Amino acid sequence: MPTSVLFICLGNYCRSPMAEAIFRDLVVQRGLEGAIRVDSAGLGPWHVGQRPHRGTRAVLERHRINHDGLLGRRIEPVDLIGYDYLVIMDEENAQGMADLARRHPVDGQVVRLLDFADPAVTNGVRDVPDPYYDGGFDHVYRLVDAGCRGLLDHLAQSPSTESGAP
Ligand code: 4NP
Repeated sequence: MPTSVLFICLGNYCRSPMAEAIFRDLVVQRGLEGAIRVDSAGLGPWHVGQRPHRGTRAVLERHRINHDGLLGRRIEPVDLIGYDYLVIMDEENAQGMADLARRHPVDGQVVRLLDFADPAVTNGVRDVPDPYYDGGFDHVYRLVDAGCRGLLDHLAQSPSTESGAP
């Protein structure tokens, strides 16, 4: 069974689709496609069925990261038991997940993306800021990229994702 990762933010419009695209790219670079399954979802309904924000698409394009096929979707109760890692972006997402967890069973580990990032990049910041209103997509990219690299290092060390594991 592959390890499964769901990136979560408020809208599934800016940060979590960015994380999905970056992480997907890193997984392919490391030849772990068969070992890790990746998706993203939002806590709110506003951007269901939409492509990511043009700021997210533009920054991914500047870094030559493919964003084909990403369409917004809202998190569903089944996601809470269907993924090993539920990766949130900030404290507001933590509260949104806690609200869901009061109403639905949760099996996956809820983790914060930046808890995996190199503190030299984040300066110890634990929240990925929401660029929807204020922009800052390049800064968000640097943070999300650092988190994705750290998360993948963490997963690659776990027995089920080690290449060559039985
Ligand atoms: P995201 O940003 O959580 O990074 O996708 C947002 C996108 C849309 C809204 C809020 C945040 N919104 O209110 O529509």
